Amino acid sequence: MEIEAAASGTHGGGGGGSGGSSERAEGWADGVGSGSVKGSYLVWEDLSVVLPNFSDGPTKRLLNGLKGFAEPGRIMAIMGPSGSGKSTLLDALAGRLSRNVVMTGNILFNGNKKRLDYGAIAYVTQEDVLLGTMSVRETIAYSANLRLPTTMSKEELNSIVEETIIEMGLYDCADRLIGNWHLRGISGGEKKRLSIALEILTRPCLLFLDEPTSGLDSASAFFVVQTLRNVARDGRTVISSIHQPSSEVFALFDDLFLLSSGETVYFGEAKNAVEFFAEAGVPCPSRRNPSDHFLRCINKDFDKVTATLKGSLKLRDVPKSDPLMNLATAEIRATLVEKYRYSKYATRARKRIQELSTIGEDHAIEMKSGSQASWWKQLLTLVRRSSLNMSRDVGYYWLRIIIYIVVSICVGTIYFDVGNSYTAIYARASCTAFITGFMTFMSIGGFPSFVEEMKVFYKERLNGYYGVSVFILSNFISSFPFLVAITLVTGTITYYTVKFRPEFSHYVFFCLNIFTSISVIESLMMVVASLVPNFLMGIIVGAGIMGILMMTSGFFRLLPDLPKLFWRYPVSFLSFGSWGIQGGIKNDLIGLEFDPLFPGEPKLKGAYIIRKFYGIPLDHSKWWDLSAIVAILIIYRILFFVILKFKERASPLFQTLYAKRALQQLHKRPSFRKMPSFPSRRHNPLYSLSSQEGLGSPLP
Ligand SMILES: Nc1ncnc2c1ncn2[C@@H]1O[C@H](COP(=O)(O)OP(=O)(O)OP(=O)(O)O)[C@@H](O)[C@H]1O
Ligand SMILES: [Mg+2]
Repeated sequence: MEIEAAASGTHGGGGGGSGGSSERAEGWADGVGSGSVKGSYLVWEDLSVVLPNFSDGPTKRLLNGLKGFAEPGRIMAIMGPSGSGKSTLLDALAGRLSRNVVMTGNILFNGNKKRLDYGAIAYVTQEDVLLGTMSVRETIAYSANLRLPTTMSKEELNSIVEETIIEMGLYDCADRLIGNWHLRGISGGEKKRLSIALEILTRPCLLFLDEPTSGLDSASAFFVVQTLRNVARDGRTVISSIHQPSSEVFALFDDLFLLSSGETVYFGEAKNAVEFFAEAGVPCPSRRNPSDHFLRCINKDFDKVTATLKGSLKLRDVPKSDPLMNLATAEIRATLVEKYRYSKYATRARKRIQELSTIGEDHAIEMKSGSQASWWKQLLTLVRRSSLNMSRDVGYYWLRIIIYIVVSICVGTIYFDVGNSYTAIYARASCTAFITGFMTFMSIGGFPSFVEEMKVFYKERLNGYYGVSVFILSNFISSFPFLVAITLVTGTITYYTVKFRPEFSHYVFFCLNIFTSISVIESLMMVVASLVPNFLMGIIVGAGIMGILMMTSGFFRLLPDLPKLFWRYPVSFLSFGSWGIQGGIKNDLIGLEFDPLFPGEPKLKGAYIIRKFYGIPLDHSKWWDLSAIVAILIIYRILFFVILKFKERASPLFQTLYAKRALQQLHKRPSFRKMPSFPSRRHNPLYSLSSQEGLGSPLP
């Protein structure tokens, strides 16, 4: 079996954004309108996904040699019991498998092996990742601005936004906020429809959806699938996993991929599935919803339910009339898998797969990236959205500004009018150290909100909305006014209550010192957020790093006294706190004179104190110290960029290597032998389906 790709941690598909439907604004259709022969043909052959187990246990096969294809103009349902591998199949096709699994087989897009990531396809995941502070209309409008062509006029763009709102039935809640931890917003079903709206907005050539109807009532589910069918009829390829659709919803699908424990039970036209089940000996009763029947026949969990009921003697009458109905679901499932393999449906599928595998590029549409907006428009849109989010999210900056004001007042009252006495030497230095080195530490408080924004970034990046550089730059620009506000309130309150120095230029330096220090903490937390998966771990790791940086800032242990190896160089050298404190003390003390310890002795000069008391060299000016903080700030931002880029580019390569190594090891192990498609009776407790047939519901 050929290795196609390693489990691809974070890369994946994205909003095709390749054009518009015929009814939509003219000028951005890409030639895949209804009736066009061009489109996205997706083929997968011998697709297996395994969860390697390097200890003695067996290796779990999540998908087992699947074959299938998807064509433009059609909508496919992936159905199967919970845990059957629906999401895994979608993730494998979209190149979004998690890192711990290994994929083998071929995935061909228009006859070619191609990584379907970062804008090649659109993927609506099971989890809705949205900015809670935005309204439904704002969310769709920003998404449209980020991705629709820059050449499109404002009116055209607005009309697409309004059409999409109506198309997804979101008109009633269009101006309501989505909601977050402190704000009750739109319902779960509305969120789901909004997530779908964001992806169909650009009419992507290939659209994946993971359970788009979960949490929706039957009318909404019908509405959503009908809309998806319309998208497909527009010449797009739509693949969606779905849980127990109603018969009306099921009838909307063109193709069906029925999965059970990672194996194909049926793949073909949805309307032929009933015929296949009848041929296989498990016909669908006339008054039963076909999808319910299919799932009931293949869901091995029914065996456990029946066993429990039998055990508790709640199940007594087992009709014996139909011999097939006396088989266990596990056995029926295995029969279906076997029958499908040699059925006309499988033969037909194999033939079509062969045809589609050799399809020329001339049949294919040009694969465009997820966004057709210019870099500048993306930046402008992101800055606007991010600024709006920051101004509406109380936890992002507002709460911090309040805390900074409160703490500044505390500092101001504790060190009030510090003066030039002998004791003021220590008071001034410790106050400066507290403000630049420790108060800035409170910037960690905005981390949870930043992590939320990062989640949206990851989703949008995977769907190809915009690049890493645009995100980083937009975040810096939109956070700038808030950081300036924090700096000004902190700097002004503390500077003038403590009465550091009357000269305005010293006040400006004091504020610049605070601003750069806070910006460094923000950037450091961004680096942490890109490396650590959740915000609790992020806060712990971030606080730990900051603790180390503070310890080496030259306040708790003077810089010359720090152990040279490691702590002085490089740690204190890389610590923004050491530069911040050096610059702050120089800014305050140089040029001042202080009372001596004993009256009558000469006054103590600021420069002397800096050198002798604090061990700070005066070979460079305070502006060099400030420049060093700016350099650290730039380094952190570049590091953040490099990490995000590295995750995108290099990690798939590492994962391919991991997959190759894992497969080499696994092939040596007996547990990796191909699983028999027909399960052994010895290992599967069998309980007949007839016992379930006697019940209205298999559950008590
Ligand atoms: N990265 C992974 N690591 C370990 N196990 C995994 C991983 N991905 C999937 N699985 C396992 O593979 C099986 C299939 O998972 P999958 O999420 O594809 O099921 P599903 O059909 O989408 O289920 P549901 O309908 O509940 O969403 C499950 O048993 C799951 O625990
Ligand atoms: Mg799933």
